Amino acid sequence: MSVDLEKILRPIDHDLAPYEPKYMMLASGEAVVVRQVFRDEIPDLLKHVEPLIHVERDFYDVVAARVYAELLGYYKHRFQDQYVLALQVDGELAAIVNGREVKPGLGLSLHTLAIRRGLRIGAHGFAAKMEYHIDTLGHDEVLIVAESPIGFRRWMIEYKLEKRFEIPHELGGVPSWALTRELFDRARSKLVVGRRPVPPPLLEKAMEKILPPSDPPTPPLDPLAATRALYDPTATALVQQRWEMEKGAGNA
Ligand SMILES: CC(C)(COP(=O)(O)OP(=O)(O)OC[C@H]1O[C@@H](n2cnc3c(N)ncnc32)[C@H](O)[C@@H]1OP(=O)(O)O)[C@@H](O)C(=O)NCCC(=O)NCCS
Repeated sequence: MSVDLEKILRPIDHDLAPYEPKYMMLASGEAVVVRQVFRDEIPDLLKHVEPLIHVERDFYDVVAARVYAELLGYYKHRFQDQYVLALQVDGELAAIVNGREVKPGLGLSLHTLAIRRGLRIGAHGFAAKMEYHIDTLGHDEVLIVAESPIGFRRWMIEYKLEKRFEIPHELGGVPSWALTRELFDRARSKLVVGRRPVPPPLLEKAMEKILPPSDPPTPPLDPLAATRALYDPTATALVQQRWEMEKGAGNA
């Protein structure tokens, strides 16, 4: 009986062509590898996404909460036709991107989450997933939204995305934007970088294990910084910090 119900609850994924890994050099001189993460490795990502749910800065909280739900849904067979890519520097997790196929010809971008900041790693991850949608999955269009001003600058402005405001995006029902094949081809020479194949030692290091990020975004340490955080009109960050400090004082 329960086995039969699982058959109904579990969506049947379509066969999506795998993502062919690539690598690129960062401004820091380090190499970053972009590669696909399959279902069995998802718990290795979840533990690094969870702490970001508590980082209000730059909308990490809402993005991380949604990414966590998407990854868990994928892991537990409750999300249809999702793919996940990881960006790793020397094995360390530097960014996660994901998306899905809505139907043949139409893709949907879920999220881009940069864990290592300031090196355009998020931008490279986004470019890699657009390349996957257009070149590998053969999508003519990808539906996209931004949850943060940095995201808006990176996707809507840099790629000159087109409005598809009549289509509510799966992320919160907000109006969609679209990357078309033509827009992607125009952006290709400037925004899409990387080489294939990945040299075997680099790829082996990435595939061996997803190592914890050494410098992930964290909540501000002092309450004043928390109140200064953009888009925190209710000062929930301050309240949380106070609770933490009270807990600490209680133990002293
Ligand atoms: C949007 C996002 C993926 C872009 O990643 P990215 O391309 O690697 O870029 P970064 O976030 O590191 O940097 C963005 C800007 O902020 C600056 N910046 C912010 N925090 C920084 C930090 N800790 N160190 C260095 N630079 C920082 C950078 O200089 C950069 O400026 P620029 O746009 O003039 O180049 C990333 O900001 C992110 O994950 N944000 C939180 C989740 C989110 O908003 N996702 C997208 C949803 S639409």
